[in-house]
Amino acid sequence: TIKGVIFDLDGVIADTAEYHYLAWQKLADEEGLSFDRQINEALRGLPRRESLLHILGDRHVSEEQFHQMMIRKNHYYLELIQNISPADLLPGVRNLLAELKANNIRIGIGSSSKNAKEVLQRLGIIDFVDAIADGYSVIKPKPAPDTFLHAALQLKINPCECLIIEDAEAGVTAALAGGMSVIGLGPIERVGNAHLVLENLAETSWQTLENQISQVQKSLL
Ligand code: BG6
Ligand code: MG
Repeated sequence: TIKGVIFDLDGVIADTAEYHYLAWQKLADEEGLSFDRQINEALRGLPRRESLLHILGDRHVSEEQFHQMMIRKNHYYLELIQNISPADLLPGVRNLLAELKANNIRIGIGSSSKNAKEVLQRLGIIDFVDAIADGYSVIKPKPAPDTFLHAALQLKINPCECLIIEDAEAGVTAALAGGMSVIGLGPIERVGNAHLVLENLAETSWQTLENQISQVQKSLL
């Protein structure tokens, strides 16, 4: 049985994945690097450093320039999230959080972002959250399972009692590597390895999700 749900943040709780993309696009345009939405798909869920390495491709820059580019991208990102508010919660999220609380299911965040706490605060849901694993918590980022394992440890539950909700391929891989159940949000091409794939969290309930996941678990036995 599921005792805790660990949410990825960007692209699951709010559409901040779009702001990460816009910030990288601005940096890439200024630097004359080829980048677009399609290339960005490969970056979904990856940490800042890995994302920039990917965008640079074989363009060589000094360590100092690399560092400055990461700072600049984050500056653009922070500008973009200045105005986010509880209205930016994706459909179904607030409802699901409230249902989890009512059912005594623990709530965690497992994000690669160093801005996770600020985003949660702006979205007005930090008080729902029992544990946060973010871009500061572990050395090995997703697709390694460490981020989610760190959250599970804080929640004091076993990995097999955790349900992860993710929108990125790297995050689905991380959850499976950690021996956790995982719901993928988005297209099959991206999150098709998840135990259950949904378009989003709108029009679902904890009871429905729990039933669907336990069906899958039974069929895997
Ligand atoms: C992930 C996002 O949650 O966090 C990525 O999906 C982002 O797009 C990564 O690169 C790191 O975030 P930050 O805020 O530390 O640059
Ligand atoms: Mg995400």
